[in-house]
Order: sequence, then C-alpha cells, then structure tokens
Amino acid sequence: MTDIRKGLVGVVADETAISKVNPETNSLLYRGYPVQQLADTQPFEAVAHLLWHGELPDDAELAALRAAERAHRALAPEVRAVIDAQPVSAHPMDELRTAVSVLGAAATAGTDNVLEAVGTPEQNVERSVRLFAALPALVAYGQRRRRGLEPVEPRDDLDYPANLLWMTFGEEPHGTVVDALNRSLTLYAEHSFNASTFTARVIASTLSDLYSAVVGAIGALKGPLHGGANEAVMHVFDEIGDASRVGPWLDEALAEKRKIMGFGHRVYKRGDSRVPTMKRALDALVEHYGRPEVAELTETLEREFVDRKGIYPNLDYPSGPAYSLMGFDTVTFTPLFVAARVTGWTAHILEQQGSNALIRPLSEYVGPEERHVPGYTPDE
Ligand code: ACO
Repeated sequence: MTDIRKGLVGVVADETAISKVNPETNSLLYRGYPVQQLADTQPFEAVAHLLWHGELPDDAELAALRAAERAHRALAPEVRAVIDAQPVSAHPMDELRTAVSVLGAAATAGTDNVLEAVGTPEQNVERSVRLFAALPALVAYGQRRRRGLEPVEPRDDLDYPANLLWMTFGEEPHGTVVDALNRSLTLYAEHSFNASTFTARVIASTLSDLYSAVVGAIGALKGPLHGGANEAVMHVFDEIGDASRVGPWLDEALAEKRKIMGFGHRVYKRGDSRVPTMKRALDALVEHYGRPEVAELTETLEREFVDRKGIYPNLDYPSGPAYSLMGFDTVTFTPLFVAARVTGWTAHILEQQGSNALIRPLSEYVGPEERHVPGYTPDE
C-alpha cells in the first residue's frame, strides 16, 4: 500500500533555517528568536532583515535597508494603470497579484533567455527589498481606489508601518496604531512551510523568477483556509453582531457543520503561539478607539467555541478585528497579510535558490485502467 499523506499532513519536505514552529511548546522562532520578543522590541524592517540575512541588523544595516525601502515606495505609473484597468469591485488580492506580476515584468525585462530568469543572489535580495517597499503603496492604493479617493504619496520621514497607515488614510497615524500594526506585521511575517510559502518554494524550485513565485504565493494566501481567514473572520463578527448573539449563532453554525473562520490550525493543536501578542495589540486598539464591544464579542465567541469544540483561535482571529478598528476595509485584511508575509516568502525563495531541488511529488493513480479511443488504429 502506498503511504498517501493527503494535504501533505506530517510530511517534512525540506530543511529550513528561517523559522522553527514547535507545536509542543507553542513557540515560533525566526532565525532562533521567539517571535513574541521580536514583535515587542523590533521595527518591522529589522525583522525583514533578520529573515533575509539570518541576523538582526546593526544600526548601519537598518539605516541602509530603510533608505533602500524608502527609495522604492512610490507606485510606478505602469502599475497604477494596470490596477485602474481592473473593475473597482475587483478583490484587492486579485489587484495585488496582478500588480506584482506587472512589477516582475518590468524588473526582469530584457531577460530573453529563460535559463537566466532566476537571476543572481544579489539581484534577488534587491528584488525582495523592492517588492517589500512596493507593498504599502499597493495596499493603500487598493483601499483608496475602492473608496473613490486619490492616492496619497509616501512620506520619507515615516517607518514602514507608519507610512503604510499614512498612505492608506492620509492622516498622521497614532503611536498606538503604528505599534499594533508593527506587531501584526512581525507576527504575520513568517511561518515555515505554510501553503503560500510552500507554493513560492515550488515555483522557485523550477528556477522561475522571484516575482512569479510571489504571484503564486499571493494566490495561495487568498484562500479562506489560509490568509483569507482574516477577512472571513470579520464576516463572522458582522453576522453575529454582538456578544449576546454568540450562543444562538454558534448553535446554528455548528448544527450546519460550518467551519468557524479564525479557529484551528494544521500545526498548532493547543493554541497558536502568535495569538497572545496579537490579542494584546487588539486590546490596546480597543482601548485607544473606546470600543469595548469589540473585545466583548471576540472574547465571548472564543470562550464559547473553545468550550464546545476544544479548537483554539489562530492569528487571523484577533487580526481581523484589529485591522477593522484601524480603519481598514475587510477586503484589505489579506493584502496586509501579504505586506508582512512577502518578507518570509522572499526569504524562503532565496533559501530554495541557494540549495535547490525541483519539488515534484508523486501521486497514486486511481482513474480508469488503460483503454483505447474508439476507432483508433495504430499507424503501421
Ligand atoms: N471550525 C469548526 N471545526 C473545525 C475548525 C473550525 N475552524 N477547524 C478544524 N475543525 C474541525 C474539522 O471539522 C475536523 O473535524 P472532524 O475531524 O470532525 O471532521 C477537525 O477539526 C480537523 O480539522 P481539519 O480541517 O481536518 O484540520 P486541518 O489541519 O486540515 O485544518 C485549518 C486546519 C484548515 C486551518 C482548519 O482548522 C480551518 O479550516 N480553520 C478555519 C480557517 C482558518 O482560520 N484558517 C487560517 C489558518 S492560520 C493562518 O493562515 C494564519
């Protein structure tokens, strides 16, 4: 009997030095550092540097990354034109996927020989920084376009999360909000061989280019079983309305055998290690905006669902309401996840390129036995 691992459950596909998930101890390490410590102490740009290069940056390295990132923040006119050609009601994840494709075509133009598509390691580090730099403008542009608002130019005096907020809302962001977004970006940045990262690695393993790998990863992240869950969580809260309705809503949802978005995880079975840090960020936002009913609803649903099913919330659960409080539209939540995870994806693409083997599993054939097309006669 062939040992089939549907969904690749429990399969160790390769080594990685980027992050370690330990479900037994409920811990997640980026290059050895606990993610909670990074979220509490580091600017997101330093976390990006850590993921790409293996060490936290010194002052000069952080300044160099920030300068490079700031130099590539503005949205190129050709990218804007392609986004504008999409219906205003297009999902921003589709816009983003298209925009990254356009960035890739521009960045790799002139590479006519497919054997050179993969680029050099130096080129790929630079491409990673450029993509990272482009994301806030893309996220912000998407939300403003849907709202019929003109884009806001980036500000060189603001760090990555603050600039993202500035470009989206056109207002000086409050420190509490910047801090919550910084934590959330760090928590979302990396998570070993999750579905989108694995997709990126599969594409990179064919020696395709970094942009193609990121485009594929965006497609994988969009699904509600993965990154799309942070958007889906908000629909759950909207459906329930307020804490008093949690019980009856849950009775009905469970009777219909619905999956409750924002709960459960393939790897963590006793709670997602990133959730407590994000919950603290959500609490700070609840306090800042004076919205205790948001905390009441999230806490009630969590308590009741864990009581009934013993399934714990994942990072998307507190992230959805946190992004909503910040003022992001629900459809913008997963693009924010992209702005964070692009660092992890590109770190994995660089790692895959550094020690490549084509990723090509086998399958067990269960279709019809060999048969022949009616009337077919082989040539003599
Ligand atoms: N709601 C209700 N039941 C659930 C949930 C849930 N959210 N999650 C798991 N279960 C149940 C399943 O119905 C199944 O029950 P059964 O054995 O009686 O059939 C059992 O728990 C195992 O669930 P699977 O889906 O088989 O577990 P798997 O490891 O494949 O799934 C997944 C993990 C996809 C994340 C799942 O928990 C889920 O669909 N959650 C909701 C979507 C979500 O929040 N995704 C975000 C993932 S984290 C991230 O991307 C940051």
